[in-house]
Amino acid sequence: MRLAKTMSAVAAGAALTLTLAACGGEGAGSGSGDEGAGNGDQDVKIGVAMPTQTYERWIQDGNNVKKGLEDLGYSVDLQFANDDIPTQTQQIDSMITEGVDALVIASIDGTALTSQLDAAAAANIPVIAYDRLIRDSENVDFYTTFDNEAVGVAQANALLRGLGYLDENDEPTGEKGPYNIELFAGSPDDNNAGFFFDGAMSVLQPLIDDGTIVVPSGQTDFGQVTTQRWELETAQKRMEDLLTSTYQGGEKLDGVLAPADVLSRGIINALKGAGMGPTLEDGLPVVTGQDAEIANIKLIDEGVQSSTIFKDTRLLAEQAVKATQSFVEGEEPEANDTDTYDNGVKVVPSYLLEVETVFKDDIQPVLIDSGYFTADEVKAGQAE
Ligand code: BGC
Repeated sequence: MRLAKTMSAVAAGAALTLTLAACGGEGAGSGSGDEGAGNGDQDVKIGVAMPTQTYERWIQDGNNVKKGLEDLGYSVDLQFANDDIPTQTQQIDSMITEGVDALVIASIDGTALTSQLDAAAAANIPVIAYDRLIRDSENVDFYTTFDNEAVGVAQANALLRGLGYLDENDEPTGEKGPYNIELFAGSPDDNNAGFFFDGAMSVLQPLIDDGTIVVPSGQTDFGQVTTQRWELETAQKRMEDLLTSTYQGGEKLDGVLAPADVLSRGIINALKGAGMGPTLEDGLPVVTGQDAEIANIKLIDEGVQSSTIFKDTRLLAEQAVKATQSFVEGEEPEANDTDTYDNGVKVVPSYLLEVETVFKDDIQPVLIDSGYFTADEVKAGQAE
């Protein structure tokens, strides 16, 4: 069944039930999600490819997307690829062979999936890029994500607020610095990493230029500050090296732009390892973050990490599920941005979600009151 690209939107709705009834059994036996759907859409099967289970967010993303699709009565093949590119390409190859009706993909390397996407297009399988844009291919049909540049801007503002340069409304406090900071970026093969960094630098560069902010290592280019595969150990090692190379002579480090919570943990390990802190009150440098991982929320609650950026993965999953449903029903998903995400071949229609900055005082209203975490989980630093 290849509804999405072969049927007109008008015909699709009416014909869907008949088509589904006629092609029962497709993809049967391949595992997760077949049980209990209770309606005719069981024969629709969706492949969901997630990068890794080492970041908590991707587990939540995977589970939330799977559940949302199963609630529509679809069956789901959900795979995690252990951050290994060949594993992810093989997983997507088998989903295509299985005959899935749509693919939802959070890529590891956004440039490594061109031949999979060609094969998907040849089989009329619509492809939704999830959170991370898939580059260099005409065959990306839709993109659901957060406003990635806004994430970077929010991270830079949170850093400046932690340093005391901005107040909680992001207005200057009158403090002048100068502040010594170091910069970290994400994995260079993840399209988001550049958006986060550029967003942050749009705020920080003018302050570097006027001397309010100093980067003592001199490492301010994206290429100098990336963290391959977003690995904690890599960020920790770079922070350790920076402390040795640049801060041995009594130079004070005031803050670190960290683009994701896992990296923030590595950076904080390095800072504490060098005898700083252990809390902000004791002089630990201000470290930012992203994702509101539960271990980091505990650190923020304890006054160790300064802030994070909360991306509500429940809402992202919901958008991906809606987009998938539209394709399955032969319709185009609703986009709210058709300008920003040029993947090198075309501008991919996108649905962007907003993000929220979380400091200690925001944990209760933003994360606990919304049911994202319980107070006990925050205390334990572990989701149940
Ligand atoms: C995501 C971030 C995440 C990072 C590392 C990025 O593509 O947008 O939320 O922290 O990958 O997994």
